[in-house]
Amino acid sequence: MKGILLAGGRGTRLYPLTMGVSKQLLPVYDKPMVYYPLSMLMLAGISEVLIISTPEDLPQFRRLLGSGEAWGMKFSYIEQAQPRGLADAFILGRDFVEDQPSSLILGDNIFYGTGLWDYLKTASRLTEGAQVFAYPVRNPQDYGVIEFDEGGRALSLEEKPKHPKSRFAVPGLYFYDSKVTEIAANVKPSPRGEIEITDINRVYLELGQLQVQQLGRGIAWLDAGTHENLLQAANFVQAVEERQGLMIGCPEEVAYRMGFISREQLITLANHLRQSSYGNYLLSVVEDL
Ligand code: DAU
Repeated sequence: MKGILLAGGRGTRLYPLTMGVSKQLLPVYDKPMVYYPLSMLMLAGISEVLIISTPEDLPQFRRLLGSGEAWGMKFSYIEQAQPRGLADAFILGRDFVEDQPSSLILGDNIFYGTGLWDYLKTASRLTEGAQVFAYPVRNPQDYGVIEFDEGGRALSLEEKPKHPKSRFAVPGLYFYDSKVTEIAANVKPSPRGEIEITDINRVYLELGQLQVQQLGRGIAWLDAGTHENLLQAANFVQAVEERQGLMIGCPEEVAYRMGFISREQLITLANHLRQSSYGNYLLSVVEDL
């Protein structure tokens, strides 16, 4: 399965933080925001990732992430000239995805919690249809909203409805079969002028091919889109990491645990970073196992 990380947009809600640096490269406590969603794709076993960002910001991503080789990954990069909508990921990413299943994650979505890895493993085995997640939130009107019937089956999907039919938002992590590029190519702009991922998901729903996994209380889905949320996300990561001595969203560690790199490769990476607590953490990962 291939992965797409969408890390463009203007980050306007975070001005002036985003005047000089891409939103998805801002720190969330001890690492850049993009490390968290990238680690999620890696946990799903995905090692080939297309990174999409604005023409101004893409060079910053290249500088940070490079070819991916050091992490046992393969990164490609493509510019999105205008923030046309999330479905654009599969128009820009058509050649990259070829005719394989793929996963899209938004560069500002942070997930953490029990059972996530099992969900990711299941979703990454998808060959037909689509899989999305549903998460209860207090402000569903700010998201794609999914409605369920009494039996827990998905009934409807709406993008940022004024009057949400449920409390369940669809987080920015999606798994699709190879039809997605074709479906994306036919999506028409919504009233807000964007080609919506929700419209892609609705096509799968109408085909009877949309699987929805509800995420429960044991899982945190954090938004880092406003100043308040960014600080809350950082505080959350700090609290968990401090208490457990385990990092959230550390791609080097995930690469090692997923078998993308060897123990020796992890030691080499750690040695380069040993002046920092991050490098010391990587060394502790090697020693513990
Ligand atoms: O976070 C989950 C939500 O993401 C979903 O529930 C919604 O269905 C989905 O439409 C999306 O809603 P947002 O309002 O959060 O999308 P936003 O326009 O803020 O874009 C999400 C991220 O993707 C943001 O970091 C910017 C980036 N982006 C956005 C667009 C529209 C791009 O890179 N390119 C784009 O064209």
